[in-house]
Amino acid sequence: MNTTATLSRLFAGIQADLDTVDKTFQERATSGLTILNSASMHALGAPGKRLRTALTLLAGKLNTYRFEKLLLLSVAFEMTHLATLIHDDIVDESSTRRGNPTVNALFGDKIAILLGDYYFAKTAGLIADIEDPRIDHLFSDTVATVCEGTILEMMTAGNIDLSKETYYEKTRSKTACLMAACSKGGAIISGATPEEIELLYAYGMHLGTAFQIIDDILDYTQDQSTIGKPAGNDLRQGMVTLPLIYALQDAPQNGHYQQVKTLLGEKTHKDEEISEIVEWVTQGNGVKLSLLDAHAQANKAREALYHFPASPDRDVLDELIDFVLMRKK
Ligand code: IPE
Ligand code: IPE
Ligand code: MG
Ligand code: MG
Repeated sequence: MNTTATLSRLFAGIQADLDTVDKTFQERATSGLTILNSASMHALGAPGKRLRTALTLLAGKLNTYRFEKLLLLSVAFEMTHLATLIHDDIVDESSTRRGNPTVNALFGDKIAILLGDYYFAKTAGLIADIEDPRIDHLFSDTVATVCEGTILEMMTAGNIDLSKETYYEKTRSKTACLMAACSKGGAIISGATPEEIELLYAYGMHLGTAFQIIDDILDYTQDQSTIGKPAGNDLRQGMVTLPLIYALQDAPQNGHYQQVKTLLGEKTHKDEEISEIVEWVTQGNGVKLSLLDAHAQANKAREALYHFPASPDRDVLDELIDFVLMRKK
């Protein structure tokens, strides 16, 4: 699947508005301070997939489309997302993002921390301009939950006995809740009923959970040139994700349990050690069972979406579910 081509086709109906979101993002992300501005322009140099923007706009299209306010919300959520990526790359000690050097690799950890903070401050202004206390709370709750999810991930790193339940909790918190907030926020602004708002929240939560499971699978199955960020990095950082959890279920019998346990406890790793475990997880049940979980989440997202009457915009939200499952980067 060609990611760029698929997304341009899916987003054709909202392309003009997506471009306005990009332009506004760029304006709001500008700083008069040269070093901060250079870091910001570098972070914006390679565009992401803009899934959070699309989710916000498309959810808004299911009712009365109020672009002026949706624009502010889309920029705020996309900027929140980018801020969390910039901070995540520091935590993960990652050197590549979207095929480019990370902000931390190029400008150092300190500037990267402060650029993320700068973005968070800017999002507060965007949200204030929407003038809706429901959005204020949605935004505040979401950012707080993403922080908790990221901390949960850090605290559970290296824990070979991490349960599936805790994995799901951290996945909902660090990734899915932001996507859920996008679709829920779009629904609120467009005047959806309380039931519709909850359905779009459920849609975003399940879509986001499937999205992160696939991300965790890609970390095992893809090479760096495809995903534009280091592959095998989760294992190197001691992150126990769903593919590894499933692979470890069979491990006491086949001997890899002890090897993984030692590896998770070490700070530096030999490439061969990582490759051996990556291959074991990829070839065995780890990836297979994780894919089944991602499909189960996708079905739940679809179930929520199908409460809405059929429309071209619902079709795009529907196809986004398939995109999330099929994506290669
Ligand atoms: C990456 O999200 C972070 C995760 C939640 C796994 P995306 O893959 O949507 O990032 P960009 O914006 O397209 O780079
Ligand atoms: C998503 O998790 C990070 C955030 C929600 C901040 P990952 O750590 O898996 O994201 P990538 O793989 O670095 O994009
Ligand atoms: Mg990461
Ligand atoms: Mg990842």
